[in-house]
This record gives sequence, structure tokens and C-alpha cells, in this order.
Amino acid sequence: MVTDVLQVLGIAGSLRRGSYNRALLRAAAELLPDGMTLEVFDLSPIPLYNADVEAEGFPAAVRSFRERIAAADALLIATPEYNYSIPGVLKNAIDWASRPPEPPLAKKPVAMMGASDGGFGTVRSQLNLRQVFVGTNMIPMQKPEVLVSRADQKIDSSGRLTDEKTRSAIRDFLAALAAWTRKQR
Ligand SMILES: Cc1cc2nc3c(=O)[nH]c(=O)nc-3n(C[C@H](O)[C@H](O)[C@H](O)COP(=O)(O)O)c2cc1C
Repeated sequence: MVTDVLQVLGIAGSLRRGSYNRALLRAAAELLPDGMTLEVFDLSPIPLYNADVEAEGFPAAVRSFRERIAAADALLIATPEYNYSIPGVLKNAIDWASRPPEPPLAKKPVAMMGASDGGFGTVRSQLNLRQVFVGTNMIPMQKPEVLVSRADQKIDSSGRLTDEKTRSAIRDFLAALAAWTRKQR
């Protein structure tokens, strides 16, 4: 559904309580431009993809995930990098949402950010995710990028993003996402 207010659905590729990527989504919720809302969907209840289960009907958590995607104007994914790629948790959820009928990911504007305690800020993971967007036929925003390296020094023990430079980058990124999403209408 498209309304004047842009509804963004946030997804974190980490289930960890103290996740830096979940912290990025919480920070994003504080830094939204006017006319944008952010709802975060927790991927924890999504089961592992199994075509036999699918043949019996989407599980409730998958149905709910697909409905929230369909209702959103854009997706915002915050993902860690696992072994130079995206975590299985995220890929699995995307796989469920990519299935017919009416795959809700198709033609959906999407933007990504990522945090790592390492030095590369999820750059390899994000490039891999862009490849998945080809398969799902999504419309990714190319720039600006949000690559948060040394996240352990930028997110405090309560899970708050304290680094002002990163907060400012996320504010600009969200403003760009608003403009990008409106352009796709
Ligand atoms: C299985 C696994 C593989 C990882 N591989 C990478 C990697 O390739 N590159 C990287 O920068 N960090 C890697 N890490 C470290 C993660 O970036 C770090 O655990 C990060 O905090 C996870 O994100 P989260 O805080 O949102 O849970 C890996 C962690 C795990 C558990």
C-alpha cells in the first residue's frame, strides 16, 4: 500500500540480543526523515525453508513476514557479514519471501546497511546481497552506502549507536532512501 507517509520495513540479519546490526535499525528509527516510518520485523520465528512445508502452505511466521513486506513501501536490511557473505538467517527469510504466488519482494525498493566489529564494515556481505537482489528482482538503492566498521567502538553496551559521524551518515542515507523510494512510484 502506498500512502503519503513512506512505510519502511526493517530486517536485521542477526538474531543476537546484543546485535550491532539490530542497533543500527534502532538508530535508524531515531533518525528518520519526516514522512517515513520504520517497523522492524524479527526474523527469529521464521523456520528453515523446506519445499515440503511450503507445499502444505506458508507457516504463520512466513505469512506474516510476506504480508509486512507487501504492505511496506521499501525494505531496509541491516546485516552482518558471515564468512564474506550474508548470514543464513537473512538468506533463508529472503528465500521464503521470494516464492510465488505474488512474491512480495519483486520490484520492492530496498536499501542495506551493515556493521561489523572488523575493519571492512560488511562490504563483502553487502556485495553478495546485491547479487541476491537480482534474483528477487528488487530495486536496490546503490548509494550512499552505510558500512560500519569497528562497531564495538561505536555502539555502547546498552546497544546505542553513539558515534556521531555514523549517526549523521545514517540520517543522510535515510533521506536518500525516502527520495529513492518516491522516485520508484
Ligand atoms: C559465523 C561467523 C562468521 C563471521 N564472518 C565474518 C566475516 O567474514 N567478516 C566480518 O567482518 N565479520 C565476520 N564475523 C564477525 C561478525 O561481523 C560479528 O560477529 C558481528 O558482530 C555480527 O553482527 P551482529 O553484531 O549484528 O550480531 C563472523 C561472525 C560469525 C558468527
